[in-house]
Amino acid sequence: PPLADLAGLRIVLTAGPTREAVDPVRYLSNHSSGKMGFSLALAARRRGADVTLITGPVALPTPEGVHRQDVESAVDMLHAAEQCIDHADIFIGCAAVADFRLEHPEEHKLKKRPDEDTLTLTLVKNPDIIATLAHRANAPFMVGFAAETRNVTHYAEDKLIRKRLDLVVANDVSREGLGFGSDDNAVTLHWQESGRHCHQALPTADKLTLAHGILDHLLVRFHATHPA
Ligand code: C5P
Repeated sequence: PPLADLAGLRIVLTAGPTREAVDPVRYLSNHSSGKMGFSLALAARRRGADVTLITGPVALPTPEGVHRQDVESAVDMLHAAEQCIDHADIFIGCAAVADFRLEHPEEHKLKKRPDEDTLTLTLVKNPDIIATLAHRANAPFMVGFAAETRNVTHYAEDKLIRKRLDLVVANDVSREGLGFGSDDNAVTLHWQESGRHCHQALPTADKLTLAHGILDHLLVRFHATHPA
């Protein structure tokens, strides 16, 4: 029988990479496929949630019943998220947001110059979308991701505090065949209970199975922090 344990909850998710324009035909980006975010959106929708998925450019179909909003840059993604965060119960930041953007994207296509063998681009820091949203008054239950190649627990706990998150989903992207672009993933969940750091590993699984596992745990934490 279909679960409806998320019925009545409004969930906003970010997914995929962002694209930061260099000029009208070029951009800076990363290898995020969007699969984890789309799997979470699909799983949450199937369990009855009202789901809004704000996504960077990805090659994935929209899960049935999910409100999808396509964006390109980190700044666009922040603006889109700010538009719908007020009505959300839960925010899940799954996007691999570019840390930097061009300070001055070129209005016209950059041309090679015969006399210059190097090109210098000046980058400025992008806003941290999830931290910006988490620091607003009346922020919803905030879930972040941490893709690390080492010191996974340390960085996950740091993000929990520094970005003011309720739950961090950490994955060790250095593990072969897991993480970026792959179908399988292994994650550890990090949260705080009465000021103490807690964590729990989920077994390696395909991303849809993991999405359900993450939602199971998220729901327990959500109800613990938002008693009916
Ligand atoms: O700091 P780091 O990029 O490792 O943090 C990852 C988490 O923060 C993810 O949940 C990601 O979606 C979010 N993030 C964000 N805006 C940024 C950078 C990261 O929302 N500019």
